[in-house]
Amino acid sequence: MRNKILAANWKMNLTLPEVELWVKKFNGFNWQSDTKEVRVYPSALFIPMLQNNFSHVGAQNFYYEPSGAFTGELSLEQLSSVGSSSVLIGHSERRELFHEDNAFITQKVKAAADKNLSFILCCGENLAQREGKTHLHFIEQQLKSALSSFDRSKLSLLCIAYEPIWAIGTGLHANAAQITEMHAFIRSLLLELFGSDASSVPILYGGSVNPENAASIFSCPEVAGALVGGASLDPHVFHQLWEQL
Ligand code: 13P
Repeated sequence: MRNKILAANWKMNLTLPEVELWVKKFNGFNWQSDTKEVRVYPSALFIPMLQNNFSHVGAQNFYYEPSGAFTGELSLEQLSSVGSSSVLIGHSERRELFHEDNAFITQKVKAAADKNLSFILCCGENLAQREGKTHLHFIEQQLKSALSSFDRSKLSLLCIAYEPIWAIGTGLHANAAQITEMHAFIRSLLLELFGSDASSVPILYGGSVNPENAASIFSCPEVAGALVGGASLDPHVFHQLWEQL
């Protein structure tokens, strides 16, 4: 059995003094467990200092080229060299605000796999797709495209996060029936693409997870944890999620 995962995606939040305070507060809670793990995805600036305190710190973004004239970008090698254990790929904010299309995301998956670096591949439909009942088809296209050059020998690097766009930062979350349907669909797709080894790929849920809805979300079959935005910015709230995982 793989560990359940509670992952904090801080996005573009928290300054250095705020991160220091976050760590101090975090250390006041009990995070010991044999069955679950915490991951933190801070601004890349804070990866070097946080890797001393956490067993798993990752990066929210990178560029897939190994090095070169790409002003402002960070490579996987650079991130690994300061202690990044994994990366996020395909987050809807990167897709929408920074125009990362399916082909670009496929390149990022290939780069992470080539480097043997763990990654969380995010997918999620918008409200129009959900209401038009094309959400399953859309997720299938997103995942098939992102994983088109991914080899099953690297499956241990892969984690999926289902994050419906309409639930991110909105206070709306997918209900248990919607999460159960989608997670079962993603599992069957992974099994179809990669065979029975894909049964151990963790599938996280993300989108307005909070202490009030966490128990019902975590009790859905195939939910191996959560990728948390807003509710990860306060260690006390984040710990309330941890206790329910
Ligand atoms: P919220 O938890 O703020 O809705 O964000 C979810 C998310 O985008 C995590 O990657």
